[in-house]
Amino acid sequence: MLTIALAKGRLLKEVNPLLESAGCALSEDPDSHRKLVVETDNPEVRALVVRASDVPVYVEHGAADIGIVGKDTLLEHGGQGLYEPLDLGIARCRLSVAGTPGTSWSSERNLRIATKYPRLAMRHFAGGVGKPQQIEIIKLYGSMELAPLVDLADVIVDLVDTGSTLTANGLVELEEIMPISARLVVNKASAKLKHVAVNRFVEQIAAALGDTNS
Ligand code: PRP
Repeated sequence: MLTIALAKGRLLKEVNPLLESAGCALSEDPDSHRKLVVETDNPEVRALVVRASDVPVYVEHGAADIGIVGKDTLLEHGGQGLYEPLDLGIARCRLSVAGTPGTSWSSERNLRIATKYPRLAMRHFAGGVGKPQQIEIIKLYGSMELAPLVDLADVIVDLVDTGSTLTANGLVELEEIMPISARLVVNKASAKLKHVAVNRFVEQIAAALGDTNS
């Protein structure tokens, strides 16, 4: 039995067609019920539908053999105990700094940053020419765009896709930090102990990617 941890929400919608092509379609729509362990069309594969930030945790600890999650979440988690064999190239967006138009930072000033990515924000802003004198990270769990509007923070570090959430709130993208896409990750022990099943699943997903891209 292979256990796959999937990030619920927006990413799952893009992953579903891949799972279908790979013969592992979810037997039920996770949005339509509260079930957390979902069977698939393949009796050897079951899915755990969890919060994105929990996907690397399930895989790292071996509670799931495989996970599908954004690169942002992986980098923020640290990626310990995980192999990352496949860039799925889906759910593409970017991690960016955003704020009100004209917002800038310099080595003479402190900067308050609201984000759900404290590690990545810290790494981006810590030290170096033109970086803020001091940074204060304000950890949020969603709706980051609100923070500059109510003076909770000077800038946010968040995902930007179409940019419509920024625009709707009068914010602009100030600096792109990195491009992001969904990745398939594998628990290191599972890669050894279940290598036949793991390799088959990874190959099926890779083939499904080829199918959906052609
Ligand atoms: C993400 C992100 C932005 C938005 C960007 O939030 O945090 O708020 O999408 O997309 P856009 O550029 O197309 O507007 P999401 O809706 O995934 O919810 P979250 O706040 O719970 O992360």
